[in-house]
Amino acid sequence: MTKKLYIETVGCQMNVLDSELVVGSLRRLGYELVYQPTDADLIFFNTCSVRQHAEDKIYSALGRLRGHKQRHPHKIVGVLGCMAQKDQEIIKRRAPHVDIICGPGQLAQLPQLVAEVQKTGDLQLAVSLGRAEASRHDVETSFESYDPARDPSMRPNPFQAYVRIMIGCDKFCTYCIVPSVRGPEQSRHPEQIAAEVRQLAGEGCKEVTLLGQTVNSYKFQSPDGRHWRLSDLLARIHDTPGIERIKFVTNFPKDMTDDLLDAVRDLPKVCSYLHVPVQSGCNDVLKRMKRLYTVEYYREMLARCREKVPGVAVSSDFIVGFCGETEESFQRTCDLVSEAGFKNSFIFKYSPRPSTKADDLYPDDVPEEVKKRRNNDLLAIQNAVSLADHRRKIGETVEVLVEGTSKTFEKRGGPVQLTGRTMTDHIVVFEGNERLIGRTVRVQIEEATSFTIFGTVETEETIGASETCCEAPMAAPHDASHRRVGLPLV
Ligand code: 5AD
Ligand code: SF4
Repeated sequence: MTKKLYIETVGCQMNVLDSELVVGSLRRLGYELVYQPTDADLIFFNTCSVRQHAEDKIYSALGRLRGHKQRHPHKIVGVLGCMAQKDQEIIKRRAPHVDIICGPGQLAQLPQLVAEVQKTGDLQLAVSLGRAEASRHDVETSFESYDPARDPSMRPNPFQAYVRIMIGCDKFCTYCIVPSVRGPEQSRHPEQIAAEVRQLAGEGCKEVTLLGQTVNSYKFQSPDGRHWRLSDLLARIHDTPGIERIKFVTNFPKDMTDDLLDAVRDLPKVCSYLHVPVQSGCNDVLKRMKRLYTVEYYREMLARCREKVPGVAVSSDFIVGFCGETEESFQRTCDLVSEAGFKNSFIFKYSPRPSTKADDLYPDDVPEEVKKRRNNDLLAIQNAVSLADHRRKIGETVEVLVEGTSKTFEKRGGPVQLTGRTMTDHIVVFEGNERLIGRTVRVQIEEATSFTIFGTVETEETIGASETCCEAPMAAPHDASHRRVGLPLV
């Protein structure tokens, strides 16, 4: 009988990619993916620790499974990813029915961990060293890069894929748990990345999104002494046959160098889209966050992006209600959003993370209702900015990579509504035949809301047909309209 695997993923694109790799490695052992935890022999949660809410969701899901596990003791429950790295003891206490606790740096060991539980019935724990526990080198090597087991069927589309180019983070923003759960910043070998992109293209992938916590800090010194930056890597993979679009997320403002902007401008397959989170529009707050730049620096950087890459779309993240954020500080953030012209912004209420600098040093002194109100107010300002940006596109013709059907805009019994993205990452919805999914078409823009632009396909002839695309297996039609690059899934 086929063994069955269920995996629930919360968090960032890194986790989405990790889940794809976990599924890839277990499928090779004969596991089949199922969509109900109670149908599975292996039940995994790939977790996130960036905000408390993401952790609460996992503990609730684990709690719901407790009775099921008691009735079926041979089933294996695993907590993977950032929570596993951060909270082994808490997981053991709050969810004693968990069989595997596996950090993001140990996912390659999962098949052995599963075999060990099957053999012994004992809890298996595999995590990396904490950053203060050993030398940098030892901590680095305890985070294993885990990338080769790609599984196109695990992706929302076989023609779009994430590619990790680095792991970890060395910035230590005071609010952020990532440097402690994902470990020190380490860049992958450019040739390994290039080989993975070639493999993906061979499987029918047309768009790759390069992933890193601070992707534009990528640096690698190859054995021949050559220093690689992100701009060099983009040039290296640019001509991969079959690849039509290259994106990269997420950028750190201080590392937005001119060579990178030149590469975005000069390499036609690189999307004119930059996700560069600013987090706050107030210098006092930025200082307490230890973001290493001022608002003046950020505005200058934004002007440089727009001057170097005409037409570039920029998006941002914000944290509202950070420790000590006054009405005046918040107003400065509102002013920045009103003026900066972000394509969109992801806005989060500050969530204190135990053992971060901010949690040690500053009281979480903005009440929840105030955080909520600031979140809504900032969102309203951003929505007005996005609407104006979208309306300016009316009358333009844009190239859209069709991602799937849109359930949000489905008309009962009416024609199929397709959704896709432009080279500037704008979401476009239009009527069309499902056979266009996975292809690039020209769409004339006619209408706009804050979240979506609507148009009519100009011609059903597709653009930039590649050698490999047409044989690619087609994903089941899905609603791709909410799967935004840069959007944490929690
Ligand atoms: N509370 C709220 N939001 C956070 N982020 C990171 N840490 C926290 C936190 N403790 C947000 C930042 C980051 C995005 C991925 O999550 O805006 O860019
Ligand atoms: Fe967290 Fe800052 Fe690193 Fe981003 S740059 S992952 S916010 S520490």
